[in-house]
Amino acid sequence: MITLQEKIQIARPIADCFRYLADFSTCEQWDPGVYRAEKVTPGAPAAGSEFDLILNSAGRRVPMRYRLLKLESPYRIELRGEGEGFSAHDIIRLRPLGHDRTEVDYQAELRFDGAIRHLEAVLNPLMVRMGRKAVSGLQRALTHETEVAPLRAAERLAYRTLLPAAMRFTERGYLAMPNRGLSDYLDGKRVVITGATAGLGLAAACELSRLGAEVIVVGRESLRLARAARQVRDFSGATADKVRIVEAELSSLEEVRRVGEVLNRSYPHIDILINNAGALFAEHATTVDGHERALAINLLCPWLLTEQLLPALSRSRGRVINVASGGMYLQSLKLDDMQYLSEAYDGSKAYARAKRALTAVTEHQAAQHPEIFFSSMHPGWAATPGVAKSLPAFNQRMQRWLRDARMGADTMVWLASSRAPLSATGKFWFDRRPAPTAVLPGTEVSSQQRADLITWLETIL
Ligand SMILES: NC(=O)c1ccc[n+]([C@@H]2O[C@H](COP(=O)([O-])OP(=O)(O)OC[C@H]3O[C@@H](n4cnc5c(N)ncnc54)[C@H](OP(=O)(O)O)[C@@H]3O)[C@@H](O)[C@H]2O)c1
Repeated sequence: MITLQEKIQIARPIADCFRYLADFSTCEQWDPGVYRAEKVTPGAPAAGSEFDLILNSAGRRVPMRYRLLKLESPYRIELRGEGEGFSAHDIIRLRPLGHDRTEVDYQAELRFDGAIRHLEAVLNPLMVRMGRKAVSGLQRALTHETEVAPLRAAERLAYRTLLPAAMRFTERGYLAMPNRGLSDYLDGKRVVITGATAGLGLAAACELSRLGAEVIVVGRESLRLARAARQVRDFSGATADKVRIVEAELSSLEEVRRVGEVLNRSYPHIDILINNAGALFAEHATTVDGHERALAINLLCPWLLTEQLLPALSRSRGRVINVASGGMYLQSLKLDDMQYLSEAYDGSKAYARAKRALTAVTEHQAAQHPEIFFSSMHPGWAATPGVAKSLPAFNQRMQRWLRDARMGADTMVWLASSRAPLSATGKFWFDRRPAPTAVLPGTEVSSQQRADLITWLETIL
């Protein structure tokens, strides 16, 4: 048997530390030895809840299942884990050190079966090192970040290499982030998120709900909405009144106006708006209002919904997160052909241009409404139903490198919850860092183009 024991101090109240650790699937955020973790028992964590882990073990992916044995709030958590040929018994003791400091004493006993048992002496130092890394990751994940490191010149230059830079859009970029913790709780905050019936939006809604936010999911189909609400509740353990649904077909401006009115009537305060719904289409088609449909869902909807919800967002000194795409790096704004009529339709270009315009709009709104924090972001390349449908060849070729939806949603959730980005309104973000909006010559949106874009939007809306 190998026994690991590490003690750390965390500058957070004991209740926060206990809450974060009780859902043991958060270990994927702080333990570099864990590639992925998922709570398989629906609802709030309780004795008997189970978690599936995939470990990184010398380049191999090794499955393991943990079971919560005891939860003694807020002082003690006990778990047992089983893998093929090994098991673990973890005891986490928490002790308050005054009002907002906590000591975490993490003890893990590891047992190996068969031949590996004889290698315990050799494995011991390696396990101790891994244990230390995990516990210092936990300390980082639970420490409130207050600022963001700006991009260094070399990092800025690296964006210009396009293909190597794009490799960071895969899960490698996410896994290389120095801190993947999401522990800034959102109790009492209300989030409106569009397109959360699948993919990144659903993953973000789950995580925001686990952080304690009331989540309002806007989607276009009632059965998918109901299923998404149940998935969010199963993930977070939230009660039904903390996960609400609103039905709307967001490519129709009339529907966006209606949904804005419904939300304004029901909720005088909205703390966070995430304009996540988006799509890429193979063919040109127009919406009921006569707009090219990629333009409608990726630009007109987020612009109009945000404008409608400004009073509710202003009252809360809220946050707006617009989900753009790294695809915009390849396109400039086409103000003379916003509806994509004067050349043969290319869905990827239409999508990228709309996302570029959305990023420019974000900068404009940030300047107009300093009381609200505005951001746009790109999620990297994540395996979602949307990517499988709209880019099947890319999806197939890139399958083993793509992020999962939770990795793709990470920066969205971080922008919604962390204090760190608040001093940098209007920026474009990738993996929790501000990113350049343009890397190719001629793709940067000038202030005149931005002004013309806003005039165009105001005219058509
Ligand atoms: N995944 C990536 O690698 C990636 C990369 C860059 C940017 N993005 C952006 O990230 C966001 C989420 O993408 P995803 O990959 O998660 O896509 P997804 O799997 O297709 O999910 C998109 C969500 O938006 C909803 N939606 C689409 N059109 C809608 C409409 N007209 N009205 C109402 N809801 C609508 C979908 O609803 P249904 O369930 O009803 O279809 C779904 O909930 C998008 O803005 C996308 O452009 C994704």
